[in-house]
Amino acid sequence: MSTPLLELRNLGGGYPPISVFRNISLSIGNRESVGFFGPNGHGKTTLLKTVAGLLDPWEGDILFAGTRLNAEGRMRARTSRNLNYDLFRRRRIRAETVVRAGLIYVMQGNLLFPEMTVEEVLDIAPRAAEGRQGVAEMRLLVDDLFPRLCERRDSKIRYLSGGERQMVSIAVGLLALPRMLILDEPTLGLSPKLRIELSQAVRRIRESNVPLVIVDQNVEFLTSLVDRLFLFDHGSITREIDAGSMPSHDEIMTMMFGETL
Ligand SMILES: Nc1ncnc2c1ncn2[C@@H]1O[C@H](COP(=O)(O)OP(=O)(O)O)[C@@H](O)[C@H]1O
Ligand SMILES: [Mg+2]
Repeated sequence: MSTPLLELRNLGGGYPPISVFRNISLSIGNRESVGFFGPNGHGKTTLLKTVAGLLDPWEGDILFAGTRLNAEGRMRARTSRNLNYDLFRRRRIRAETVVRAGLIYVMQGNLLFPEMTVEEVLDIAPRAAEGRQGVAEMRLLVDDLFPRLCERRDSKIRYLSGGERQMVSIAVGLLALPRMLILDEPTLGLSPKLRIELSQAVRRIRESNVPLVIVDQNVEFLTSLVDRLFLFDHGSITREIDAGSMPSHDEIMTMMFGETL
């Protein structure tokens, strides 16, 4: 088998001193897209932030295209009375290393600079793609995916709707020329109409051969989009389902939450 694009080996992490997820092992192939589905507050975002280099992993390794992204080292149990979070930094991972490798994370809740205009944000976004070809083509795709952003190019981010901000966030991720794009609940909190619009854009991103790792609460959308779905519960992957044998919405709900009356 060829080297996986993303490989997690026994990954664990959280917010010191609270462990949120553990024992996450998975391999994602070069052209594969995967989804995560699970209840709120069970650690999906924490896992993705760790993979993206925003939080330090407590144990295990993150490999991207065969290169380990996190520093090696063992995290020691803390015994001192005063909290010393620096101990957790022994396994440090740098967001810059992750971005340069082409692993791009679009955060849940689109945190953008409110005083910048859409155009200004889209102009600086390709800096993350430093050294890689294809920014102009990607800009064409972005304009095609989100015509609404062209209309609003001179607006400050603070005046955009939630859906429009989400579009800008995804556009920024794309303009970094991802080798893999991580989308954390891209349709969260949107009106039904915008949710459909965003879902269609995500589908087209997938079809343009950008491998996705995506968390979403809409299980039908996920099952129709990805090659593999991971059910995620209490900080662990509880089940892995292939596209070929994708269960119905009701079956997934039963796997996740048990029989409902
Ligand atoms: N910044 C933070 N500091 C401490 N705990 C957090 C922080 N963010 C989230 N948590 C906690 O981590 C757990 C997992 O949250 P999260 O990863 O956001 O779950 P999900 O994305 O599956 O909804 C929750 O119990 C949440 O309260
Ligand atoms: Mg989340």
